[in-house]
Amino acid sequence: MRELALNILDIAENSLSAGAKHVEIAVCADLEKDRMKIVVRDDGCGMDEEMLARVTDPFTTSRTTRKVGMGIPLFKFSAESAGGNFDIRSKKNKGTEVTAEYVISHVDRMPLGDFGGVVLQLVTMNPAMDFTVTAACSGREGVLDTREVREILGEDIPLSAPEVRAFLKEYIQENLVDIFGGRL
Ligand SMILES: Nc1ncnc2c1ncn2[C@@H]1O[C@H](COP(=O)(O)OP(=O)(O)OP(=O)(O)O)[C@@H](O)[C@H]1O
Ligand SMILES: [Mg+2]
Repeated sequence: MRELALNILDIAENSLSAGAKHVEIAVCADLEKDRMKIVVRDDGCGMDEEMLARVTDPFTTSRTTRKVGMGIPLFKFSAESAGGNFDIRSKKNKGTEVTAEYVISHVDRMPLGDFGGVVLQLVTMNPAMDFTVTAACSGREGVLDTREVREILGEDIPLSAPEVRAFLKEYIQENLVDIFGGRL
């Protein structure tokens, strides 16, 4: 995995598997401090303390098709190998919060990659789930909240409708260019 956006997709997919109804994703950078932070928070089933303690180990998984769970260990590795740190908090039946921090200029920091594409995929392909996506960089900030978009669209038009998808694609890309300007 060479893009942080793909790590984010993987972590958000854990939230889907956990039955989350609302997932918050934030990518926040401070260029002066040379730090960036990625947070994925959900209101899914959460984990008990024992599972939480084991979850950063690549051999821990609740999947049945293969025994190795890699999403969390890879995300942790991406941060720790780029001068940053990693944290995961979870409460059974409450939810989970995963945080990864990076030194932006670190040689081993992976590029953010196609974060806009990942956001578009998540919001258009999960009709039963709401997302709040925040992008922030040194004073500029943008937020996409699918609950607001759904309210404007009304009940009959899904986020996956071709015109809506096209609009969202452009909206997300424009905002990310404006906020991050390709610096991440
Ligand atoms: N947001 C979450 N809510 C509840 N449980 C979670 C969450 N994220 C991870 N888990 C638990 O931790 C386990 C390990 O997650 P991880 O992403 O590392 O591997 P995986 O999802 O099992 O497999 P892979 O990501 O490689 O497809 C999951 O199987 C799941 O039981
Ligand atoms: Mg996973």
